Amino acid sequence: MIEMYRKRLPYLLVILISVQMSSIAFAQAPKTVHVLVNKPVADVQPTMWGVFFEDINFGADGGIYAELIKNRSFEFFKPLMGWKVEQKPFVEGAVTVLNRQIENTANPRYLAINLHNATKGTLTLINEGFRGMGIKKDMQYDFSLQYRLPSKGITIHVELINAEKETIGTAVFTPTTTSNEWNKQSIRFTSTATSAKATCAIWFEGSGTMDIDMVSLFPTDTWKNRPGGMRADMIQLLADMKPGFLRFPGGCIVEGFDLSQRYQWKKTIGPIENRQLLINRWNFEFAHRPAPDYFQTFGLGFFEYFQLAEDIGAAPLPILNCGMACQFNSAELVPINQIDPYVQDALDLIEFANGDITSTWGKIRADMGHPAPFNLTMMGIGNENWGPQYIERLKIFQKAIKEKYPYIKLITSAGTDPEGARFDSLNTALRAMNADFIDEHYYRKPDWFLQNARRYDNYPRNGTKIFAGEYAAHSVKTVGVDNKNNWLSALSEAAFMTGLERNAGVVQMASYAPLFAHADAWQWTPDLIWVDNLRAYGTTDYYVQQLFSVNKGNRVLPITLNNEVIAGQDSVYASAVMDTVTKEVILKMVNLSSNPQILSIELDGVKKVLAKGSLQLMQNNNLNAINTFEQPRFVAPISLDFPIQNKKIAYTAPGYSFQVLKIQVK
Ligand code: AHR
Repeated sequence: MIEMYRKRLPYLLVILISVQMSSIAFAQAPKTVHVLVNKPVADVQPTMWGVFFEDINFGADGGIYAELIKNRSFEFFKPLMGWKVEQKPFVEGAVTVLNRQIENTANPRYLAINLHNATKGTLTLINEGFRGMGIKKDMQYDFSLQYRLPSKGITIHVELINAEKETIGTAVFTPTTTSNEWNKQSIRFTSTATSAKATCAIWFEGSGTMDIDMVSLFPTDTWKNRPGGMRADMIQLLADMKPGFLRFPGGCIVEGFDLSQRYQWKKTIGPIENRQLLINRWNFEFAHRPAPDYFQTFGLGFFEYFQLAEDIGAAPLPILNCGMACQFNSAELVPINQIDPYVQDALDLIEFANGDITSTWGKIRADMGHPAPFNLTMMGIGNENWGPQYIERLKIFQKAIKEKYPYIKLITSAGTDPEGARFDSLNTALRAMNADFIDEHYYRKPDWFLQNARRYDNYPRNGTKIFAGEYAAHSVKTVGVDNKNNWLSALSEAAFMTGLERNAGVVQMASYAPLFAHADAWQWTPDLIWVDNLRAYGTTDYYVQQLFSVNKGNRVLPITLNNEVIAGQDSVYASAVMDTVTKEVILKMVNLSSNPQILSIELDGVKKVLAKGSLQLMQNNNLNAINTFEQPRFVAPISLDFPIQNKKIAYTAPGYSFQVLKIQVK
């Protein structure tokens, strides 16, 4: 860490000098910015800045869900996808795939093994992991499986193998129970080396028959050390954002290609072997980025999402299918006279989250280990749905939910685009229904974000609020494969976000999307956080999101230049909030010009101000700059301070910079 700062020292010095001395270096007259500290115009909701999670880009399976075995239950379209079977000599029928569909619809397949005097090399099953397995030296791993062994005689050997084909961890798994029933057993062992692309080999010794299912390998260093839990490094990046809400599980996976592939939360809770696998629509959605091995095992299901939200202090925001499949795909609709189960799913989810432990669904939550309620207060009905068919279905949900749970705020869809005829008609219809929140999405080029910094200045102040539910600046083209998380994208989002913050009375929630991407398995770019099997880093956009979120304050303050909001004059964008708890005035400012901006910031309506303020600064002269695995903080905040005299700050915003200034007031 110290080394990193040492390397960056010359760069930090340049910034420091430009912050402290810039008024000497540039003879330009300072522009006077006024902050009206005693004239807050709106509250900032605790939910203002949140995160959007979807299982896209291997975000869940192969991502935050730390399972290392791919296709553990042999339920992928091809039962042995992800597995290699090696046999010497080849014996017909030594490994077969059985399907017990009638007795187990959720997890019908398993492998039947038939051996005669097997030794090392006779029969080996090798799992490739999710684009390899990330194995860490000296880390403990839990290998488990479900098996049915009628009589003793078979031992299983587990080996972790690195890319060089060396063994970097071994375990001997001796089944302890012989029975015609299924048993679950696990063994813990330690790896001897690190590898980003390991595989897991399982070989059999002995004679007899054995059925196996749910073959699993988890590291023990999961988030909160929960067995079968989540990747701690990825979750830590979320926790560090202190998000106001966690939206889950998407995104388009809520809708599904057709209704049979929609996300159904009830199939994602309870014992993991009973959670029915579903194809992930990002498996085939983009022909140019196919991922035939992308499925949802739901080891990470709704209980775990609620628990995650609670862990990171975020309000849970589930989005449910509204009886419509993706309108870009099959566009299937459930007939209105068959919509009841969909509505019931929504009502039952509220009971699952909040119900007393004596209620049907509250008891299921309690039995899963969480008797206390999850405090659900909002829910999305539909993702990117549109048209009269959406409004017709939404009204049914709205009536049923508001009747039973009037305190639940409903998030409603504005479709895929933030303008146009479809948007306008939805906007009109939703406002006529007194929708609580309209969810607007914008994946646009950086310019759009700059041009829309004032988008919400004239939105109605009363009634329906806005959830900016998915947005990201796409550097090349909307949903293009060459889009980068570069500094220009992050700066233009920051500029736009000052507009959201100025209008926090109207826009009460916002989230960048998508959240995670695996470097070897992504479908969509840009994304907030990139990972490989061992590493994770926040993009430039991540640090912008984080700075807004951890400095959200609770009152919006007017900040003006020549009595006008600051939204693009000389490429400067700004917003201000007050944190009445810490008694800090917090300014956020973006300079999208290559030239420094010399400012005199005056705090009006305040008695006393401390003589020193603190600054978080992000700056880079190269708008194409990006963070990488090798340089994860190439563009990231640095902490500085600045002097304050007579409630005035002489501040120079460096070219191409985003900064958060904090001033303690009395
Ligand atoms: O964030 C990626 C996708 O973009 C989401 O699944 C969908 O809601 C939007 O179209």
